[in-house]
Amino acid sequence: MSELVQEIEKLKKERQAVILAHNYQQDAVQDIADFVGDSLALSRYAATTRAKVVVLAGVRFMAESASILAPEKIILLPDSQAGCPLADSIDVEALRETKARYPDAAVVCYVNTAADVKGESDICCTSSNAVAVVQSLPQRRILFVPDRNLASFVARFTDKEIIPWDGGCLTHYRVTLEELERARAAHPEAEVLVHPECRPEVTRAADFVGSTGAILKYARESRAKEFLIGTEMGILHRLQLDNPEKKFYLLSPGLVCPNMKLTTLEKIARCLREMQPVVQVPETTRSRAYRALERMLAIR
Ligand code: 13P
Repeated sequence: MSELVQEIEKLKKERQAVILAHNYQQDAVQDIADFVGDSLALSRYAATTRAKVVVLAGVRFMAESASILAPEKIILLPDSQAGCPLADSIDVEALRETKARYPDAAVVCYVNTAADVKGESDICCTSSNAVAVVQSLPQRRILFVPDRNLASFVARFTDKEIIPWDGGCLTHYRVTLEELERARAAHPEAEVLVHPECRPEVTRAADFVGSTGAILKYARESRAKEFLIGTEMGILHRLQLDNPEKKFYLLSPGLVCPNMKLTTLEKIARCLREMQPVVQVPETTRSRAYRALERMLAIR
């Protein structure tokens, strides 16, 4: 074990901390984490852990979700610059203006949003439960923010009227149908597994569309021996660990999220040493955002 890993283990005990890592984190970060998962699983873990300190190895909205769900805990984000351009594509004023134009619509916000946007929404969703969340609502019209590709994916599986926001994930957007077709031609036996943040023509052409957690589950259970993966490259680590006998190829070399790659072991050690940067959502925003997240977590 390296000195740095030993220091992290020691600090973790002293601080009564857990390290939660998203599936897109660097391999070494995933390896020292107490729990690795998708956005929904990270939220559930943060809501129930008994640890006093949560190190969120991910991006800011994930640390905010942890703070909203577990306000009594100290939430550390190892790099305060780790943001999400998709989450930044909507702010609370713009959402309020749009809501006023659709007074009969329910507002569903993707978990990739700032806390105040969650506070202005009726319910939150992640890529693993977006269809179930939309189906659970009595309203016929749904203002779905901010990912237009996830909105279009959800619209395929419900008879609701989905009004999308014009935001998108720069990383998933890079995967093109041409790349998918070329990869299929090169690996005709492979199954294509993609994230719903990919373009609609890509999700339509895939064999399976799901969250990072759902992709991991699908790959474990599938009898196929080869897979073409349409989500951030960090997921390859778990895919390969879980399925040493199977082969995984990325659909596009562009599938790298620079924000997810900001977290390093050095920054994790530093944040546990210095107990900062802390992410704490102010109480007025938190209590409103909590309702949207709590409603989502009530849906299995
Ligand atoms: P998952 O919920 O599928 O892990 O996705 C998180 C994310 O931020 C995708 O860009």
